[in-house]
Amino acid sequence: MTDKISVLISEEKVEKKIQELAERITRDYEGKQVHLICVLKGSIFFTCELAKKIPLPVTLDFMSVSSYGNATESSGRVRIVKDLDESIENKDVIVIEDIIDSGRTLSYLMDMLSARKPASLKLCTLLDKPERRVTDVSVDYIGFEIPDKFVVGYGLDYGQKYRNLPYIGVVEE
Ligand code: IMP
Ligand code: MG
Repeated sequence: MTDKISVLISEEKVEKKIQELAERITRDYEGKQVHLICVLKGSIFFTCELAKKIPLPVTLDFMSVSSYGNATESSGRVRIVKDLDESIENKDVIVIEDIIDSGRTLSYLMDMLSARKPASLKLCTLLDKPERRVTDVSVDYIGFEIPDKFVVGYGLDYGQKYRNLPYIGVVEE
């Protein structure tokens, strides 16, 4: 069965926004080395595109957390499926997320990472659904604020599908 998907943010707009975010990060981290943490799997496309556009020394690490099953609602539970390979102590860390929804995942993750004593810790998300927030999360770089709709593409999935769409789309009910 195929779902009907309509375009919410075009590929061109996503690419342009990532370029803008990369320029801001490049200015903010001038003279430093940036350690990007990609939160799998959803942030993979965003992290790659962003990293390519930052002309500073960049290192990457990956982490996988799970707060959703295959449903479209948060379970409220956060589980570390794969931890980072390297220590973040004394590093200038930016956590890269695909989307912040309830904020539960990120609030848990940021607390856990800050306890590991990075030199600095910031958060960058491609998408933000502010209407859905249930816990306070401070976000340093936001690509787009979007309405309370379930979106797919550019890394985001619906039952593991549609991550490879080059744009942000909405799954029609
Ligand atoms: P939170 O803990 O509710 O903020 O959930 C964050 C995670 O839920 C994201 O990293 C996504 O994996 C997933 N998620 C939230 N909203 C959507 C959506 O609209 N489409 C696809 N995944 C979503
Ligand atoms: Mg995610």
